[in-house]
Amino acid sequence: MTTDDRLLEKLLAAARDACGHAYAPYSAFRVGAACLTSSGRIFSGANVENASYGLAICAERAAIFNAIGAGDRDLRAIAIYTPTAKPVSPCGACRQVICEFGDAIEIVACCDADTLSRWTSAELLPDRFSL
Ligand code: THU
Repeated sequence: MTTDDRLLEKLLAAARDACGHAYAPYSAFRVGAACLTSSGRIFSGANVENASYGLAICAERAAIFNAIGAGDRDLRAIAIYTPTAKPVSPCGACRQVICEFGDAIEIVACCDADTLSRWTSAELLPDRFSL
């Protein structure tokens, strides 16, 4: 196992742990995410729903906002975990937010099967909106 593999395992484990903190009483769809920054720090987040449905925040954005709020903006990779049979890719809003912080961010989705899906941020949102 290379250092990169070990780091990826750590990131995936952080996403899985974060999923345990998901607050999803309305959809019952729990998501955990974790992002790795160039400083080597890992920031995690889970989806948080609300009785006013539109106020829900996705796990990916919760994790990213944790990193940005801590002053760590150089995102390198984001892991997503869902307790599903297939990996789940980030929603459109999360894609836009991920791409705000770089076009070459690695996105890795894992689930309860032994399979990963991997993309770069630009692959998931070509021709993104930008000012
Ligand atoms: N969700 C995420 O956390 N990430 C996504 O990329 C898609 C959807 C959450 C939002 C909501 O709490 C639940 O999954 C069902 O849509």
